Amino acid sequence: MDTVQSTRAATRVLVTGATGLLGTPLCSLIAQLPTIQCIGLARSDLDIAFDEAVAKTIERHMPHWVINCAAYTKVDDCESNEEWATTVNGVGAGTVAAAAASIGAQLVHVSTDYVFDGTARNPIPVDAPTGPPEKLSAYGRSKLEGEQAVIKNHPTPMIVRTAWVYGLDGPCFPRAILNLAREGKLKKVVNDQHGAPTFAPDLAEAIIHLITANASGIFHVTNSGSCSWYEFARYLIERAPGIDITIQPCTTAEFPRPARRPAYSVLDLSHYEAVTGNTMRDWCAAADDYVFQLHID
Ligand SMILES: NC(=O)c1ccc[n+]([C@@H]2O[C@H](COP(=O)([O-])OP(=O)(O)OC[C@H]3O[C@@H](n4cnc5c(N)ncnc54)[C@H](OP(=O)(O)O)[C@@H]3O)[C@@H](O)[C@H]2O)c1
Repeated sequence: MDTVQSTRAATRVLVTGATGLLGTPLCSLIAQLPTIQCIGLARSDLDIAFDEAVAKTIERHMPHWVINCAAYTKVDDCESNEEWATTVNGVGAGTVAAAAASIGAQLVHVSTDYVFDGTARNPIPVDAPTGPPEKLSAYGRSKLEGEQAVIKNHPTPMIVRTAWVYGLDGPCFPRAILNLAREGKLKKVVNDQHGAPTFAPDLAEAIIHLITANASGIFHVTNSGSCSWYEFARYLIERAPGIDITIQPCTTAEFPRPARRPAYSVLDLSHYEAVTGNTMRDWCAAADDYVFQLHID
């Protein structure tokens, strides 16, 4: 891929994991900004597990900002491949941070609600304690190691934790739900895990707001409001044209998966709002937009 948008831009932004759910809309958004040049790198251009390649590639492009969207995100597979999850999400994130620091570039590292154990009962602030590691999934542990490595290797990193990301550019919960519902194969959806669905283009825009504010530190960014997976699925089905199906709520215990999921992972957005002066739109409005875009594409 190695997409380099050529302009007379003043600011160069290098995006890793540029073909993912988040990386794709982020690169599209940056490409529309007149004063920023986007260098979007797919995994085939830059594998963050290979430290020499990371340093060389970042040095070659000399970006002002590096946004690390690269991650091993197959949450269930991480349980049986924890070593690789740690290599990419933990060590790899630290390598990207060190390479950015070595050329004086600012860093945005994308992290997850899975660094929390899910026992909170109110929206989780940025300074809430993470872990403990033994109560996290292998994916959550690897992402937590990534946060720690980033903080160790970069003097002023920005860490953006998000959750329940979906978009138009890859497999995700809404796409799977709508496909199953259309085929009449969807019966039950988990109703005892609560979070905030996050439309990837909204998250991309929020990251640009944070960069524009020259922010550093930890931020929580999702669409606002919260729901269960069942409520999210029901909302999508009601909005999508041509689907006539009734689904039932169920418990996590009825639908066991290899990786532990946080029961509650609603993130407190107030720090993001205070620093940028922006608010995130409600998850329902974002889901309406998603369904609309899905059907005009
Ligand atoms: N999706 C969610 O629900 C969610 C929730 C919370 C946080 N996040 C975080 O958000 C960030 C973006 O994730 P996403 O949702 O966009 O996931 P995604 O769609 O799976 O995209 C991940 C990207 O990283 C690339 N990648 C994987 N291994 C790599 C490696 N070793 N070196 C370089 N690139 C590699 C992938 O390329 P290939 O496809 O070619 O392997 C893909 O382009 C990640 O940090 C993730 O942990 C996601």
